[in-house]
Amino acid sequence: MDEQMEGVCVTACERCPALVESRSRIVNGTGPEDADVLFVGEGPGAQEDSEGEPFVGRSGSVLDDGLRQVGLARADIRITNCVRCRPPENRDPTKTELAHCREYLEREIELVDPEVIVTLGKVPTEHLLERSAAVTKEAGTLEEIRIGETPRRVLICVHPAATLYDRSQSETFEAALERAADLAGVDSGSGQTRLDGF
Ligand code: URA
Repeated sequence: MDEQMEGVCVTACERCPALVESRSRIVNGTGPEDADVLFVGEGPGAQEDSEGEPFVGRSGSVLDDGLRQVGLARADIRITNCVRCRPPENRDPTKTELAHCREYLEREIELVDPEVIVTLGKVPTEHLLERSAAVTKEAGTLEEIRIGETPRRVLICVHPAATLYDRSQSETFEAALERAADLAGVDSGSGQTRLDGF
């Protein structure tokens, strides 16, 4: 494997000049390399850039609460982003930046080999499905994609931050997490992964 990307931990990358300028550090995915569920967000925000971990700010708290409700813990899941460097002023990553970082995301998906990939919000959903998406309407639905030769199941979910601005999205968010836990064989309530579902 590329020495800059051992275990899909990118330690050096200069592909996106604007992001190299705006980042403090590269924010890699965290969580077990054999997780059943891989969450994919858009890109690091200010807090993530400062701490070097995905989803550690307000969105991260919403995600943690939602995970707990469906019997999952942060330690059970893998979480990563479409781009690993913070875009300036929290703008969306550009198509070029997404394309530059795609190789890292695909390698992470291959390494983790999850039962299900959960896309958090519009950017990761459209990026992985390679089509436009109405995420609020489509949240909770499952779609198959191919990464290389391998079929992958993608579950569409709203971004946790959406629930902060619009409370009505909380139910949609929680229902999607419930489905993710189900697909991963988690017995909601016990926090235990059911092995008989495989
Ligand atoms: N939002 C994201 O999409 N990713 C993060 O890591 C944090 C907030």
